[in-house]
Amino acid sequence: MIVIGGSTSEALAAKVAKELGTDVGRLEIRRFPDGEKYLRVLSDVQGQSVTVIQSIHHTPDELLFEYLLLADALKDLGAKRVTAFIPYFAYARQDERFKPGEALSFKTVCKLIESVGTDEIFTIDMHQHRVVKSSEVFRIPSHNLCAMPLLADHIQKYGRLERPLVIGPDAEAEQWAKVAAERLNTDYDVFEKKRLGDAHVEVRPRKSNANGRDVLIVDDIISTGGTIVEAVKILQSQGARRIEVACTHPILAPGSLGKIKETGVTDVVGTDTVPSAISQVTVAPLIAEHVRMIGD
Ligand code: R5P
Repeated sequence: MIVIGGSTSEALAAKVAKELGTDVGRLEIRRFPDGEKYLRVLSDVQGQSVTVIQSIHHTPDELLFEYLLLADALKDLGAKRVTAFIPYFAYARQDERFKPGEALSFKTVCKLIESVGTDEIFTIDMHQHRVVKSSEVFRIPSHNLCAMPLLADHIQKYGRLERPLVIGPDAEAEQWAKVAAERLNTDYDVFEKKRLGDAHVEVRPRKSNANGRDVLIVDDIISTGGTIVEAVKILQSQGARRIEVACTHPILAPGSLGKIKETGVTDVVGTDTVPSAISQVTVAPLIAEHVRMIGD
């Protein structure tokens, strides 16, 4: 068994390989002078079960293409099996044709990943609004794992919250708020969110009242930070005590972290699906657990 990390996930792949006590595959990746990508597999993968870890964030087109080159090469070089772990999976939002003529990007990306011989795919807290299960779009076995138990354990261990109220800033975040609250043995609620533009959202409370409570806000992604800032404002106006924030994918657009910290939250934590200044929680044990289940 070999674990290989693409350019965004080398560190994560090394952690997964360490958990599994297995080898990390080596690659040479560079660009030709004309901008084309060159990829060479340096490890012997003949007859091996290969786990490829490649988060597709920030430069998704490039990183998706790199995954395609890599998986196709692995199969061509005789790998017995290629299992993809795409911790952050871009393009999942465009799963419908909202305006006439739009590309169905989610489906196209799934087809491309399948077309290079990927045998099975795992994502983590994939941004699924309308698609309930990834098997609705993938024809290969697909699984969407959840990093919230790992984040909740981190908060439990290092956070400064006492029996926090867990808040999801929008309806979609209920799935994560529920998991985190169960793990922390506490209660949860979600707010209502209306997106007014790429960087502007309107968030409204529902039934919960955070007066005198510690609060943990959980979400899948922090991008511009607008969602979290609006949620924090509501909680502070209700009289919340300490507020901490946890997200799976810290995309963190420039200025977003500063904006959140300026609100006075006690801590902001994310995972290493997207390496960042707040990636204090590793998803390596989660990935390793599933690689073990697949076996050789
Ligand atoms: C959207 O529904 C997601 O779950 C996140 O709430 C969103 O991506 C956060 O974006 P931003 O940080 O730009 O508000």
